[in-house]
Amino acid sequence: MPIDRSIKIAPSILAGDFADFAGECRAIEAQGADWVHVDVMDGHFVPNITFGPATCAAIRPHIKGTMDVHLMIAPVDPYIEAFARAGADIMTAHVEAGPHIHRTLQAIRAAGVRPGVAINPGTPAAAVGELLDLVDLVCVMTVNPGFGGQKFIHSQIAKIAELRAMIGDRPIHIEIDGGVDTTTAPLVAAAGADVLVAGSAVFRGGSAAAPAAYGANIAAIRKAAGAAR
Ligand code: DX5
Ligand code: ZN
Repeated sequence: MPIDRSIKIAPSILAGDFADFAGECRAIEAQGADWVHVDVMDGHFVPNITFGPATCAAIRPHIKGTMDVHLMIAPVDPYIEAFARAGADIMTAHVEAGPHIHRTLQAIRAAGVRPGVAINPGTPAAAVGELLDLVDLVCVMTVNPGFGGQKFIHSQIAKIAELRAMIGDRPIHIEIDGGVDTTTAPLVAAAGADVLVAGSAVFRGGSAAAPAAYGANIAAIRKAAGAAR
């Protein structure tokens, strides 16, 4: 079955107000977000800590659409059930997070969640070659994971195009995460990406109480990406 390859904007609540995730999720969806991107960090796989399954479960009722959970944790397997129970629609694990990513992706599918696989900037596209039959999404990190607001790494664009060719007509989304804004969105869209995660570029200038800037930011990224297709 062909999938929807239209541009989807997935704001990362990492750039939102940690004291009001509920309000932030409602605000970004009302302002046109397609998915809500949720960054889970463990202070071990990446040098930063955010939150875990309890927080995901708490925000789930405030998201109408897709909750896209990006696991920057190692190990992954002991926590799959908990994130599935928390209501993740998509659960993305890193190829670098352990020796058994194939098993991890099978376990995510078995838990009733759509599996995604993420690769760091230092990891080649070929690292997911044997995994494409297991996943619904490949996430290309265009920054080193751990923090929002970093500079987009341009060398990743060729990798996106390579992945797009590898995927062919398989029903797999290509998601880009890190440094996406109106300048970089066209580059990744032209290379074949369809899901654009954006933290700082969506949340800047707005708040849950005054969310119009979120809408303008989302629309501007979508327009820039769409024009490059
Ligand atoms: C980085 C996270 C990203 C991050 C993106 O480790 O996975 O989702 O929040 O933030 P920006 O868009 O600010 O680079
Ligand atoms: Zn992310």
